Order: sequence, then structure tokens, then C-alpha cells
Amino acid sequence: MNINNLKDKQANKEKLVMLTCYDYSAAKIMNQSEVDMILVGDSAAMVMHGETSTIPMDIERMQHHVSAVVKGAPDKFVIADMPFMTFRQSVEHGIQAVKMLMQAGAHAVKLEAVDGHEDLIERIVQSGVPVMGHVGLTPQFVNQFGGFKVQGKDPVSHDKILADTLKLQQLGCFSVVLECVPATLAAQVTRETNLITIGIGAGCDVDGQVLVTHDMLGFPSAFNPKFVRQYLNTEQLFKQAFDQYAEDVKQGRFPSDKESYL
Ligand code: KIV
Repeated sequence: MNINNLKDKQANKEKLVMLTCYDYSAAKIMNQSEVDMILVGDSAAMVMHGETSTIPMDIERMQHHVSAVVKGAPDKFVIADMPFMTFRQSVEHGIQAVKMLMQAGAHAVKLEAVDGHEDLIERIVQSGVPVMGHVGLTPQFVNQFGGFKVQGKDPVSHDKILADTLKLQQLGCFSVVLECVPATLAAQVTRETNLITIGIGAGCDVDGQVLVTHDMLGFPSAFNPKFVRQYLNTEQLFKQAFDQYAEDVKQGRFPSDKESYL
């Protein structure tokens, strides 16, 4: 899968499928699936490292996640998230982070900011790296939003999100994630820009969808937004397996002769 395949699918109105992934084993399974794009999201901070937000994510951890995912999913288009503090200091810091993510094997980067970051976005695009923007409920702005809340409901923030997507297009981005915004706004962005629009809590009139894999697989989560559809109850399945194993060990049923070297 490459950027041209993605654009062809968009032109043919074939829905694009994106999921997050952070490790080699899950990436190997995803590589065999119908998923088009893998996002190595900074949500790794929360679902892999137990942080309460994405803010503490750093470039070293992200680089490890990207490298593992790329090895497991060689056939997928892999997008790497730029962690919070990697591009808020200067354009040079940002370019250094892009270098680390691309050297780890990413095919594109995603960043959660528009205003004040135009120079960086333009520089990344001019360097030959596809850029995905992210607007709406951008979790790196959680402290400014005062929580994880729907964005773009009032006319001012609606118009701001629309204007940001037009700016991202003008700066050369190929795609944008629309997170937790009214479906009508996401549909408008899809109509009025040529960006590949990927929604999460943004209705279905977009070019594709993304979910955090741990949410759709039903791993335990303190945050259960209504836009998540759960396809598996991993929490229950894992717990059953762990308890069954514990019981087998305690009862002397594991290992059996077949599982032993006699
Ligand atoms: O980090 C992430 O997982 C994301 C998705 C929620 C789009 O940015």
C-alpha cells in the first residue's frame, strides 16, 4: 500500500480503513487483514504505557513502536504520530523528530497542530514526507480544551476547524484526521477539500475511519466514548485464559506429559 493507492481508493469512493498499532505481533496480524493504513499513534502513551494523556510521549518510545510495527506489517502504509514536545520548540526539533520516525520506517507523519506550525508542516512536505493533519478533539490540547470533549459544535469553532483543514491542504498535507466533531462538519471538510479525510467520532461521510485498536478490541479503558464500536471482549477473554492457566497450574494439570520432556 502506498500513497497513490490511498488516493486511488479515495477517488473511487472506496472507504479507507485505518487502525492504530504499536507492536510487532499485532502488526503481523494486521498485515494479513483488510486494513489499509496503520497509525502508530501517540495514544501508545495511554494504552501501552499507562499515562493519563498523550502529553508525556517521547520520540524514543515512538521510534521503537514504529520500528516494531513496520517490521510486522511490511505491506501497510504506516503513519507515525509526532509526540507533543517534539515539534513545539522549533522547526529544527520537529525535523529531527521526523528524521527519527522516517529512519524507523514510517511512510508519513501526523501532527496535531496548525496555527504557529505552518513553517514546519511546509518544510516536512518539501522534504518529501507526506503529512497527515489532525483537527477537532486533538488530545495534545486536552489541557486547553479542559477534557476530552466534542469540538466544532458552535459556529466559531466549526469555522475554525474548517479553516484549519483548508490551511492544511494549502500547506501540502495529503490527509487529515477529524476527531470528535459533528458529522455535518466532517462531511463538509470532505466535500470542500481534496484531503483524504479520516474520521474518529466524525460520522460516516468521510473517506475513511480510524479507531484505537485497544478500544475496538475491548481492552480495559477508563474512557469509553460513544463512537467506539467494540468488536471483541478482550478483557474477558484474556482474564478467562489467565484464570484457566492459573487453575491448571494450581491443580497440577499443566504441564501434561505431552507438554513435558520425558
Ligand atoms: O494517537 C492516536 O491514536 C490518534 C488517533 C486517535 C487518531 O491520534
